[in-house]
Amino acid sequence: MTKLSSLIFILAVITSIHAIAVNVNKLDIRDEGDPMTVTVENETVFCSFLPRVSGQTISSSESNAVAYCTQNTTNAPNARIFPDGFILTKHFASGDGYVQITGLINRSIYVVPNDGGGQYDIKAPVGANCTGYDSFVNLVEPDVGRFCIRCCKKTVSDKCPRGRSEAGCESIIPGTYS
Ligand SMILES: *[C@@H]1O[C@H](CO)[C@@H](O)[C@H](O)[C@H]1NC(C)=O
Ligand SMILES: *[C@@H]1O[C@H](CO)[C@@H](O)[C@H](O)[C@H]1NC(C)=O
Ligand SMILES: *[C@@H]1O[C@H](CO)[C@@H](O)[C@H](O)[C@H]1NC(C)=O
Ligand SMILES: *[C@@H]1O[C@H](CO)[C@@H](O)[C@H](O)[C@H]1NC(C)=O
Repeated sequence: MTKLSSLIFILAVITSIHAIAVNVNKLDIRDEGDPMTVTVENETVFCSFLPRVSGQTISSSESNAVAYCTQNTTNAPNARIFPDGFILTKHFASGDGYVQITGLINRSIYVVPNDGGGQYDIKAPVGANCTGYDSFVNLVEPDVGRFCIRCCKKTVSDKCPRGRSEAGCESIIPGTYS
């Protein structure tokens, strides 16, 4: 290579490395107005965190996921609306100090179909809340097509455990998954 073409080659490499870094960072970006509050009211009005962009895995979005809901509701300000057809089934249940939704998702829509999934909760993404409750736990498991969310009052905080995503929806939030 001539000196000039070597220089151009080096510049091209630097530029592409920079482009990759920018793309990776994009997944970590959070915006001021990101909807960070979910609500679980009944089978018609409920939410779940989801990756901010289609094609991002659940675990890689734990730091910057955003709230998606079945419809606009003042209890989840600015939440996005679930992609059409994403929620296949949903079952509401409640008990002393908690409410929950369990159900099935269409893993061909928005998420990565073979993604083993992950867990969102009161600490991840930072600032996440469930209106009217002190904590929540929310798993999305594309590979098995399940999702679940439970919001808990302080008195039953053990029913919304953190850091147990590998256990899966069925074990952490018993309910109807069909
Ligand atoms: C669900 O909750 C919303 C908001 O609180 C309410 O307007 C609606 O009537 C409820 N629907 C059912 C089926 O309970
Ligand atoms: C929800 O509210 C937003 C912002 O006000 C609006 O743009 C959007 O059309 C609403 N969506 C539905 C399904 O009502
Ligand atoms: C899931 O979504 C895909 C892609 O839109 C669609 O072809 C398929 O019929 C859906 N499955 C169900 C069970 O709705
Ligand atoms: C949301 O949760 C955080 C803790 O994660 C808390 O500091 C904050 O006050 C809550 N915000 C609202 C509006 O409830």
